[in-house]
Amino acid sequence: MVKLGVNIDHVATVRQARLATEPDPIHAAVLAELGGADQITVHLREDRRHINDRDVRILRETIKTKLNLEMACTNEMVQIALEIKPDMVTLVPEKREELTTEGGLDVVNNFDHVAKAVKALNEAGIFVSLFIDPEYSQIEATKKTGAEAVEIHTGAYADTTGAEQRSELVRIISASEKTRELGLVLNSGHGLNYRNTAEIVAIPGMNEVNIGHSIIGRAIFVGLERAVSEMKELIHKALIDARV
Ligand code: PXP
Repeated sequence: MVKLGVNIDHVATVRQARLATEPDPIHAAVLAELGGADQITVHLREDRRHINDRDVRILRETIKTKLNLEMACTNEMVQIALEIKPDMVTLVPEKREELTTEGGLDVVNNFDHVAKAVKALNEAGIFVSLFIDPEYSQIEATKKTGAEAVEIHTGAYADTTGAEQRSELVRIISASEKTRELGLVLNSGHGLNYRNTAEIVAIPGMNEVNIGHSIIGRAIFVGLERAVSEMKELIHKALIDARV
């Protein structure tokens, strides 16, 4: 079964819209787990625009599944990860002006910097994944850093339709093959929703998808537990259909 990581950043975004204490992402994590989430994913951004240090600390203590901490590759964030010890760190690129993570981490051109962070995290026993575009050079560089997993950026696939989307899917499929060939764990995420996730989870060797926006958006109408369980059912059905 392909695992589902539920990204709960948007719950904190609503809280921060009023600089209030509700809705609490800690409650969201409980409901997501009741709905069948295999992992809770949060992005602690440098500007703390949604998830904050207190959230990560409490989630570490209360989550019953796994905590995946997405973060920029900075000294400050590495220090926080070393203290919190999430089950997994996903290193992502971060720009202050962006609405959400744009593009993958450029491991090729920032190799020494990324490799140093991976080493420090690995030495503390933290599993590290790098969020990268579906490009061979980035996958090969990821392997050389010592990271154990990649999260393939599915944003370009999610943002397109028709023939363009087909060709983005082909790119992701061949990047996935390369990932498995190199013995890296294969994760994916960004922009996935109830209409475009089936094709991604059907890719051989896919270990996990991380989904936020579409699940939290649906939760407004049907509740979070149900929104998560519907995504779990969709993944299950996609795997049966693909006979994986
Ligand atoms: N994976 C990574 C590395 C991300 O940065 C994000 C967005 O925070 C997601 C997955 C989830 O993307 P979305 O909210 O579009 O489902």
